[in-house]
Amino acid sequence: MLDALKDELLSMVNAAADLPALDEVRVNALGKKGRITGFMKELGGLSPEERKERGQALNALKDEIAAALDARKADLASAHLKARLEAERVDVTLPVRPETEGRIHPISQTMDEMVAIFAEMGFAVAEGPDIEDDFHNFTALNFPPGHPARDMHDTFYLPDAGDKKMLLRTHTSPVQVRTMLNQKPPIRIIAPGRTYRSDYDMTHTPMFHQIEGLVIDEATNMGHLKGCLVEFCRAFFDVDDLPLRFRPSFFPFTEPSAEVDIGCSRKGGELKLGNYGDWLEILGCGMVHPNVLEACGIDSTKYQGFAFGMGVERVAMLKYGIPDLRTFFEADLRWLKHYGFVPLDIPNIAQGLTR
Ligand code: PHE
Repeated sequence: MLDALKDELLSMVNAAADLPALDEVRVNALGKKGRITGFMKELGGLSPEERKERGQALNALKDEIAAALDARKADLASAHLKARLEAERVDVTLPVRPETEGRIHPISQTMDEMVAIFAEMGFAVAEGPDIEDDFHNFTALNFPPGHPARDMHDTFYLPDAGDKKMLLRTHTSPVQVRTMLNQKPPIRIIAPGRTYRSDYDMTHTPMFHQIEGLVIDEATNMGHLKGCLVEFCRAFFDVDDLPLRFRPSFFPFTEPSAEVDIGCSRKGGELKLGNYGDWLEILGCGMVHPNVLEACGIDSTKYQGFAFGMGVERVAMLKYGIPDLRTFFEADLRWLKHYGFVPLDIPNIAQGLTR
C-alpha cells in the first residue's frame, strides 16, 4: 500500500510545473494534514511490533519524498533562473542606440570642419546675402566697370529693378566688404556660404560653396597669411607635413595675390596628399588691395590685411574621395548614405576631424 502511495507522490512531485505547484504537493504529502502525516498519526493505535516496522517504513517514505521534493525544487529553480537569464540577456556589443537613418551632407560636414579649425585660431563666422548688388560683389572689390575679370565670373544677373544692378554673388568676397563697412579693425572673420556662376560640367555647378577668410590689423603681413593657411591645410587634411606652394597670381582685390597648391601624388591614377613632389591647386589668396580698404572706409596707410577664398566642394572631394562634383546636388539617397556623416559625429579639433 505504501508503495502505491510512494509512486503516486513521486509522480506528483515530478509533474509539478512550478514552485507553487510543488509546494502544494509538499503540503499534500508532508503537511499537518498530509497523507504521510496522516499515516504517522495512526501509528499510536498499533502494537509495538507493528508500530516499529510501519514507523520505519513511513520514515523511509517521508525521507524519500522530502528528498524528491528538494531535488525537484532545485531543478525548477535552476530552470527558472535559466529562463530569466535568457529573457533578460543584454548584448553589450550592440550600439547604445539604433543608428539614425539621416545623414549630414558632406558639404555641411566639411564647412563645420573648416569652421572648427578657424574658430580655434580665433576667427568669427560672418554672413552676407546670396543676392548681392554690383557694388559689393565687384566695384568695392576693385573690379572697375568693364573690367574683364567681371566676365570671367559668369555672373547670373537679376532682371533690372531700378538703379541697382542685382546679381547672385559669384564669390564670398562681398562678405569681406560688408564686414569692413560694419566693423572696425582688428577684423578676423571667415564667411562660408553659397555662391553662383553660370557654368555646368564635371567640375562646375551653377551653385557651389566657398569659404572666405579676412584678417585686418595694423601689422598683418604675408607671413601671417602663409602660417594661417599652412596650419589650416595640415589640420583639415590631417597630414602633418603637407607642403604648400604659393604661386603668384592675380585677383583685383588683392595685391600681391597668390594661388596655393598642396603637395600630392598622382601615381597609378590614385591621388594621395603629402610631400610627393606633385602639386594640386586648392585656393586663392593675397594681401587686401589698398583700394578695397579705402572703398570700405578703412585707412590703408594704417591698416593692412590678408584674404583667402576656397571652394568647399573642391576640398571635400579631395578629402573624401568624391569623384564628381555634380553628385553633391543630385539628392540621391544612396549617394548620401555612402558619403554622408552620422549626425552625432560633430567635428571638433580634440577628437580629430577625419574619421
Ligand atoms: N574670390 C576669389 C574667387 O572666387 C577667391 C579669393 C578670395 C582670392 C580672397 C583671394 C582672396 O576666385
